[in-house]
Amino acid sequence: MTPALANLDWPLHTERLELRPGCAEDAAAIWPWYRLREVQEWTTTLSPTPTEHQERWDRGLGSAVVGLSEGAVIAVGKVERQDAWSQTDMKDRATGQQAELGWVLAPAVHGRGLGTEFAAALLDLAFDGLGVRRIEAACFAENLASRRVMEKIGLRLEGVFREDSLHRSGRWLDGMSYALLASEYRAERTAPPLAELAQDRSTTDT
Ligand SMILES: CC(C)(COP(=O)(O)OP(=O)(O)OC[C@H]1O[C@@H](n2cnc3c(N)ncnc32)[C@H](O)[C@@H]1OP(=O)(O)O)[C@@H](O)C(=O)NCCC(=O)NCCS
Repeated sequence: MTPALANLDWPLHTERLELRPGCAEDAAAIWPWYRLREVQEWTTTLSPTPTEHQERWDRGLGSAVVGLSEGAVIAVGKVERQDAWSQTDMKDRATGQQAELGWVLAPAVHGRGLGTEFAAALLDLAFDGLGVRRIEAACFAENLASRRVMEKIGLRLEGVFREDSLHRSGRWLDGMSYALLASEYRAERTAPPLAELAQDRSTTDT
């Protein structure tokens, strides 16, 4: 049986954050910063009123993860299990095999490495927690901060889609798609650092 986000061991701790599944009450807690223009610039769904924000939040609860610092929710993320594409006769074996990740941080804490720390924890949750075989994440090409987070947690750029995405400013923007396989994630974690390899070679090469 494939584990669901809610059934994992919570809370999860990173160096500076505590992570747990989102709950209905989080909507009100994040509203003061989630509503800000700099956040909604890049969110998929506009939440113009607290009521719409709560409704949208409640719909996504099955895949929502929040990050707390000093008791306050400063990060919201998504680890959404999805079906992989397959030929129809293989559909059963492709069901739930991948996950889409997403992240949004309170502007007050931007630029401190917390976005990267939170996104890396979502990656761990998808691979170690849900056990998916592939994760994907997408963003507007102009969202440099999110692109950098994807690079820093080790995702691979798989596609740049020329003006495929309509931004709420009315502009057609390029979209970018990143991904990583569980096998790559595990290989990366078990590979010794390059510096160690170089040192080993220098002690064995005589
Ligand atoms: C994307 C986001 C989560 C990054 O959070 P953060 O905590 O500021 O990220 P970090 O501090 O970990 O920074 C990650 C990297 O992005 C870089 N970065 C941050 N803001 C940047 C910007 N505006 N332009 C270019 N690079 C930027 C940082 O310099 C850092 O790279 P470095 O270590 O090489 O210097 C945050 O900006 C955010 O919530 N944005 C609004 C919502 C959003 O865009 N969500 C993603 C939708 S796809």
